[in-house]
Amino acid sequence: MGRESGMKYELVIVGALETNCYLVYCEETRACAVIDPGADHEKIISAIADLELKPVIVLNTHGHVDHIGGNSDIIQKYRVPLAMHAADTGMLQVSDYIELSLLLGARNSPPPDRLLAEGDEIAVGRISLRVMHIPGHTAGSVGFVAAGVLFSGDTLFCGGVGRTDLPGGSWKDLEQSIRERILTLPEETIVLPGHGPWTTVEQERDSNPFLT
Ligand SMILES: [Fe+2]
Repeated sequence: MGRESGMKYELVIVGALETNCYLVYCEETRACAVIDPGADHEKIISAIADLELKPVIVLNTHGHVDHIGGNSDIIQKYRVPLAMHAADTGMLQVSDYIELSLLLGARNSPPPDRLLAEGDEIAVGRISLRVMHIPGHTAGSVGFVAAGVLFSGDTLFCGGVGRTDLPGGSWKDLEQSIRERILTLPEETIVLPGHGPWTTVEQERDSNPFLT
């Protein structure tokens, strides 16, 4: 997949909530974006070393603690900038959710160096990730699109959708984001969610019980 574009990715499952952290990289230059380093930074660092990758940026699909809890360790290790949507920056002090943070081994995240908005392009070596603002699970949820793949965060799962009962959540926005933005992508688009197995736009359009 993504052979012509040179985009590749590696999945690292991290933390007690089994968050999908993705290393998205340019095969040619080995430049890499770290999407959602939620926990287990040693595991992420060792995957980066095994693949001989060079992190250039940390990206958060949204601000929940299980997606941002390892930001600070990865940023300190590689001295790379952090990018996320402005609407979720109020969630980065995980000491506000102390019990959950302790359980997950999460640390406070530094503030983002770059705020992401709809349509932004993020350069990673010779590849580029396009930002899609898909609010609903949180107000600042974003997806990243590249080479026929959508990194969907907790907006859309294989056979499920993100919860909307937490602060900033909205079922109306979530449904609109999924129907109008995600399901309108080419049906063969591979969807890589923030938890659980991968899926495709076609499969979710045809069989996701929350959408049919
Ligand atoms: Fe979440």
